[in-house]
Amino acid sequence: MTATTDSFLDIRELSKSYGDSLVLDRINLQLNRGAVVCLIGSSGSGKSTLLRTVNRLESVDSGMIFFDGQEITGHHVDENQLRKRIAMVFQSFNLFPHMTVLKNITLGPRVVHGKPTEEANQHALELLARFGLEGKAHVRPDQLSGGQQQRVAIVRALASEPDLLLLDEITSALDPELVGEVLNIIRELKDSGMTILMATHEMGFAREVSTKICFLDQGSILEEGPPEQLFGSPRQPRTQQFLQRITEAGRL
Ligand SMILES: Nc1ncnc2c1ncn2[C@@H]1O[C@H](COP(=O)(O)OP(=O)(O)OP(=O)(O)O)[C@@H](O)[C@H]1O
Ligand SMILES: [Mg+2]
Repeated sequence: MTATTDSFLDIRELSKSYGDSLVLDRINLQLNRGAVVCLIGSSGSGKSTLLRTVNRLESVDSGMIFFDGQEITGHHVDENQLRKRIAMVFQSFNLFPHMTVLKNITLGPRVVHGKPTEEANQHALELLARFGLEGKAHVRPDQLSGGQQQRVAIVRALASEPDLLLLDEITSALDPELVGEVLNIIRELKDSGMTILMATHEMGFAREVSTKICFLDQGSILEEGPPEQLFGSPRQPRTQQFLQRITEAGRL
């Protein structure tokens, strides 16, 4: 089905339960090309689940997702093709420990997308250089710092030249001094026009880079808006409480 929408990503009335528990409750969310949208909210509010439905790591019970005009929630969708265009990066890096950085990055393009090795290597080396990882192509992940490993995971996601990047708390496992280098990459990707949907607890960063913030509460988007509005004058009591707690914890 083709959407009558101009949005690059258009999530409509999306719901999902695990057993008796409703985890996503009629989510509606639209992203234009080049948008950076942050999902914020308490632990368990459904941020990861929502991200995972967008590249079909999770099935949905009802509702639809349209990506670049095509419905991607149906059975007919080629998941390999979809994940070439919609890449996801996780909190825990998920690099293959027994493979070099270069192999980690080129595996998808070579094996899944049939890119010639030479070309895949060349592209990977360019991306590594762009993100300050030149010289790291032939080491294994355990020879890198956490921040470097996460940057490699981002490079791996970029290697398939995606149009949409899903980032799930990608700085949460990092020591504070390594967070900045990963956030710098996201800034650069935003400046280069990448469309990004991310879950984050880095409120200051969310405020700085986002075009829109969505506050999730018990599986619903309770409130959304531009960062200055959502952080500056939240309308819903639940949003106010959440931001109050974040502020008290010194994270805003
Ligand atoms: N595979 C699963 N089976 C059953 N319940 C699940 C599963 N995955 C997630 N849940 C439940 O779904 C709800 C939403 O989880 P989700 O991981 O999306 O939250 P989150 O907002 O990403 O939280 P956090 O900030 O802690 O990462 C939680 O109540 C969680 O326990
Ligand atoms: Mg999560």
